[in-house]
Amino acid sequence: MTADTERRLHPHLAERREAGVAVLRVDREDALGALSRGILERLHDYLIALRDDREVRALVLTGTGRGFIAGADITEYHGADQAAFDDYQRLGRATYDALAALPQPTIAAVNGYALGGGFEVVLCCDLVVASERAKFGLPEIKLGLLPGGGGTQRLARAAGAGFAKELVLTGRIVPAAELHRRGLLTAICEPGRLLPEAMELAATIAGNAPLAVREGKRLIADGGHLPLEQALTLEQQVLSRLFGGADGKEGVAAFVEKRPPVFHGR
Ligand code: COA
Repeated sequence: MTADTERRLHPHLAERREAGVAVLRVDREDALGALSRGILERLHDYLIALRDDREVRALVLTGTGRGFIAGADITEYHGADQAAFDDYQRLGRATYDALAALPQPTIAAVNGYALGGGFEVVLCCDLVVASERAKFGLPEIKLGLLPGGGGTQRLARAAGAGFAKELVLTGRIVPAAELHRRGLLTAICEPGRLLPEAMELAATIAGNAPLAVREGKRLIADGGHLPLEQALTLEQQVLSRLFGGADGKEGVAAFVEKRPPVFHGR
């Protein structure tokens, strides 16, 4: 498996591809990965384009050095007028929504500070692998502000209102181990193992039947908004379609014939 070299999407964003997995890296170590408007715009456009990219079967999002993403670029807030601030928040909303709605599974590989918008990015990802050094939080309250990219809502849904209130109202920064104990991380590892662990997860997913992977992600997301009865019916409809499809037939045949399956995404 050979890795393509990184290509620059923006001075502070780099992407490389490896066997159907895209690795997007925020590369702004001197500001701990703070999201300037320019980075956010490029990230937004990248995610919109990725939605229709059939070559990419999973996305790994990571940062550089001590910073994963330390939130919005506070220096750009300073002196910004109301219209510019509101516009940044709208772009943030569109970007987080695009990330959460990507058909491909997404894995946050959290190397360092994931604060504010950085934690909100993590909350939009399907799986989260964190370095033991990673730290998470919603510290906007320290600025007299609040999260605006889903922090109050997605954290409350993922971890309960009590924990969300504690983080939002105190601004406390939480070490990775605590988040792991609360069941919010898929895995925690030493810093040197972070990308290998994330890539192993991504490769496992990318090697599974593409349609089943996408439908599995969609079912879990959509089902959460439906009454249980409807969600269970939806689950059976999706399974029935997969059974009737080429990959479902191939997977079952390969098991019986004791050979590895060859999936085509149909
Ligand atoms: N926006 C802009 N710059 C940021 C930033 C942000 N969100 N977070 C960190 N930086 C910059 C710092 O200003 C500093 O820049 P400088 O070297 O030019 O002074 C650099 O990144 C390193 O940060 P520093 O504060 O020196 O590191 P630290 O280890 O002492 O503290 C944090 C780390 C993350 C606790 C601290 O930087 C912080 O509180 N950042 C703000 C996080 C935040 O409120 N995010 C939500 C924004 S809405």
